[in-house]
Amino acid sequence: MIFPEWTTTNQILYAALAVLAVGVGPAEYYGQSMMFYSKFRSVSGIPSRVSMVILYSAPIVALLVSARSYLPNANLIQWIVFGSVFTHFSKRVLESLFLHKYSSHAGLLTTLLVASFYSTAAYLIGWMNGNPFPSTDGWFALGIVLFIVGIGGNFYHHKLLADLRKDSFDYFIPRGGLFEFAVCPHYLFEILTWLGIALLSRHLAAWLILLFIVAYLTARSLRTLKWYQDKFSDFPKNRKAILPLVL
Ligand SMILES: NC(=O)c1ccc[n+]([C@@H]2O[C@H](COP(=O)([O-])OP(=O)(O)OC[C@H]3O[C@@H](n4cnc5c(N)ncnc54)[C@H](OP(=O)(O)O)[C@@H]3O)[C@@H](O)[C@H]2O)c1
Repeated sequence: MIFPEWTTTNQILYAALAVLAVGVGPAEYYGQSMMFYSKFRSVSGIPSRVSMVILYSAPIVALLVSARSYLPNANLIQWIVFGSVFTHFSKRVLESLFLHKYSSHAGLLTTLLVASFYSTAAYLIGWMNGNPFPSTDGWFALGIVLFIVGIGGNFYHHKLLADLRKDSFDYFIPRGGLFEFAVCPHYLFEILTWLGIALLSRHLAAWLILLFIVAYLTARSLRTLKWYQDKFSDFPKNRKAILPLVL
């Protein structure tokens, strides 16, 4: 792992990231995180598609700004790290525009908070990538594999969700793929994507961002499982939250 130079600014920045990463799981689980979208949306707000396009476009801009100084002369490792983050957020913009079938609104504050978090994450990884891991190794190769499996599996399960809404914008019990075993397999694949990015980058910041995402998505998947169990009396009893057969 590559550690930053421990200047006072960096100590404050990394301490804040660590506190966020540790705190976000309990905050989301107990409904205190203020992330009002999808099943846990606010009554009013902005259309979900607009919200999602904003919050996934902002980090692309942040990434481009952070990488502008070294990109023209970047080496292969730098291009792969940059390309992974760029691909992830571009895919999410395209999915938000052309795949997801949103039924409602997302909170404006939620949109701004998530856009800020993603932009900070993209900026940090892009900026740290100015000082890349010196050479490729087996972990780097694993990072590429996990990244590809992550975005592929994430897209596949998003498509299964979108296909549920052929005739109406209601909520249905998801079927197919890992949905047979857990309510949020798309979150599991999102985590694999970020594990891949962390293995490509190796910077402490990337690992803290991964920790934040694991904590947030695990907590949200547990709330989602409870939501399905409350909404559908015939909900299959064997379904887990995020990790088939385990959690
Ligand atoms: N990195 C992170 O921290 C992070 C955090 C959150 C999300 N994400 C990414 O964003 C993706 C989507 O996350 P999300 O929380 O918005 O997922 P989600 O709540 O499962 O919603 C995804 C889409 O499927 C629809 N949908 C969900 N459940 C449905 C059901 N039972 N029946 C019919 N339609 C259903 C939603 O519609 P409605 O909008 O109408 O509910 C929405 O259009 C994740 O898979 C992940 O890639 C990343």
